[in-house]
Amino acid sequence: MPAVSASAPGKVILFGEHAVVYGQPAIAAPVTGVAVKVIVQPNLLQPPGSIEIDSPAVDFHATRSELPEQHPLNILFHQIEQTLHIARLPAMKIRINSTLPAGAGMGSSAAVSVAMIRAITRFIGLPLNNEQVNQIAFEVEKAFHGTPSGIDNTVITYQMPIYFIKNYQPRLIHLKEPITLVIANAGEAPSTAEMVAGVRQRWQQFPQRYEQIFRQIGRVVEAALQILENGNWQQLPPLMRENHQLLQEIGVSSPSLDKLVSAALQCGAYGAKLTGGGGGGNIIALVQPEQADSIAQKLREEGALHTWLTTLHPSENG
Ligand code: MEV
Repeated sequence: MPAVSASAPGKVILFGEHAVVYGQPAIAAPVTGVAVKVIVQPNLLQPPGSIEIDSPAVDFHATRSELPEQHPLNILFHQIEQTLHIARLPAMKIRINSTLPAGAGMGSSAAVSVAMIRAITRFIGLPLNNEQVNQIAFEVEKAFHGTPSGIDNTVITYQMPIYFIKNYQPRLIHLKEPITLVIANAGEAPSTAEMVAGVRQRWQQFPQRYEQIFRQIGRVVEAALQILENGNWQQLPPLMRENHQLLQEIGVSSPSLDKLVSAALQCGAYGAKLTGGGGGGNIIALVQPEQADSIAQKLREEGALHTWLTTLHPSENG
């Protein structure tokens, strides 16, 4: 069996984070400038089931037998075996290379899962379809993050902008016009699981108020979908502002995120909002392509630890 590799991109949530956990729709897009690449090769002379995993970027080195039963990677291996109806994966060495920052809200855990599932199943000659890859990646995300909506693994599996409602097949969005975004990192954030748990606690305390905000976020998402599919992206900025304000109201923004959102608007971005779990982490700013570099630089001057540029392109068959 020759070595086989597979890659998966990062992701951003454009609209609807957190409310999506409560059944509202959300929109996410892949970020193709960053990626996880997984290479699988035979582990010669080792018995079946003997798997070595190496992820130099996060200094992780382990064998399958060393991992606790409930470790996300063990869940991934079990899920593949179950889906393919095989007793034991063959002996292999798995190397994970990544330019996708871990813990920065760009979907690194889902990207690792998707790339691993694809690389392993191709390696053994039994590749899975998108739906199966997504299903397994979702099980692994639950092991990583508690009660995720599944949006991260879905957008990363399909590698297209998606309109997503929990427990439903995603709708692939065919963009009418290209969209350029600056993603800026405001610094370390609590884990997504912690942020989601915090919202859950406050939702239990103030159910009516939170339900109302979630529904309002859902309406913003519906309006954004129309614009993305029909063009006229100039109408997106007010929706970004409204979504950011609603996220502030449910307590997931932070002074550093608010500062970067204001800075982005002041230096010429059309719209900006926090993206993902919040509490730190990333904002997205919608910009004119010619201004992307200068806005990214200004955001770094205003305290962003890192910036990325990404353009979402209309799909060819759209
Ligand atoms: C994380 O990318 C998005 C959240 O809505 C959590 C989730 O949907 O699982 C915050």
